[in-house]
Amino acid sequence: MQTVTLVTGASRGIGRAIAEMMAAKGHRVIGIARKAGDATFPGELIACDVLDAAGRKAVLAEICARYSVDNLCNNVGLTANADIADITLEHYNAVMEANVASAIAATQAVLPAMRARGKGRIVNIASRAMLGRSGRSVYSAAKAGVVGLTRTMALELAADAITVNCVSPGPIATENFKRLNPRVGNEPTALEKAVPMGRLGDPREIAGAVAYFLSDEAAFTTGQVLHVCGGLSVGFAPL
Ligand SMILES: NC(=O)c1ccc[n+]([C@@H]2O[C@H](COP(=O)([O-])OP(=O)(O)OC[C@H]3O[C@@H](n4cnc5c(N)ncnc54)[C@H](OP(=O)(O)O)[C@@H]3O)[C@@H](O)[C@H]2O)c1
Repeated sequence: MQTVTLVTGASRGIGRAIAEMMAAKGHRVIGIARKAGDATFPGELIACDVLDAAGRKAVLAEICARYSVDNLCNNVGLTANADIADITLEHYNAVMEANVASAIAATQAVLPAMRARGKGRIVNIASRAMLGRSGRSVYSAAKAGVVGLTRTMALELAADAITVNCVSPGPIATENFKRLNPRVGNEPTALEKAVPMGRLGDPREIAGAVAYFLSDEAAFTTGQVLHVCGGLSVGFAPL
């Protein structure tokens, strides 16, 4: 039977690269994004705004009624800049909802089928910003939360042979990154220059790490965080 892989935030950027890589490996890919109707998507792209908790629950239930999901990649996120003094409850709620609550909701939706099968793979996407980045306190808190979620879910689900791991990207050349970190002219930003490998990452380089955690060979790997950041977290991240 074809492996079913659900990817949130799948229409563009990192999520799209994950969808394309898993489809190329023969998976049936189900993607979620606010805007569907993309004929080039390598699978089925379903419209869903993960900030709408009720709508999100209904869409996830519908997906899980139609498919027995083998693999889940909680990729969707919301990055928003705000100094600590300017953070509003709306900002906090939206960032936590997109990065943390949606991952919990998607996990809850796929869990019955994974448990019944006695096997499953979940990969959550954090960010190097969780180690600290000015102007990103709530995003940083949310992504650090994703790591805590990963580790505790890994413990709770290990006996069911469901692995839960995390990929933490450094700066990756996506629309989202370019919008939030605009270059002046063609001059690389200070963040880009700080990357030891001297370049931005490619979304496919995140997809490759996700693909490993989703593979059969990763069956004994759980609760781990893999920094894919061109070396930017080295010297900052705890072991
Ligand atoms: N790019 C980086 O440098 C970087 C670094 C560290 C971590 N990350 C993390 O990696 C993940 C992907 O980032 P990205 O840079 O690939 O983002 P992106 O290029 O902006 O793509 C975001 C994807 O999520 C969908 N999306 C956005 N808001 C949504 C919502 N409310 N409901 C449903 N879908 C939604 C978008 O489609 P629609 O617009 O159609 O909804 C799109 O498919 C995020 O968790 C991000 O925090 C990225």
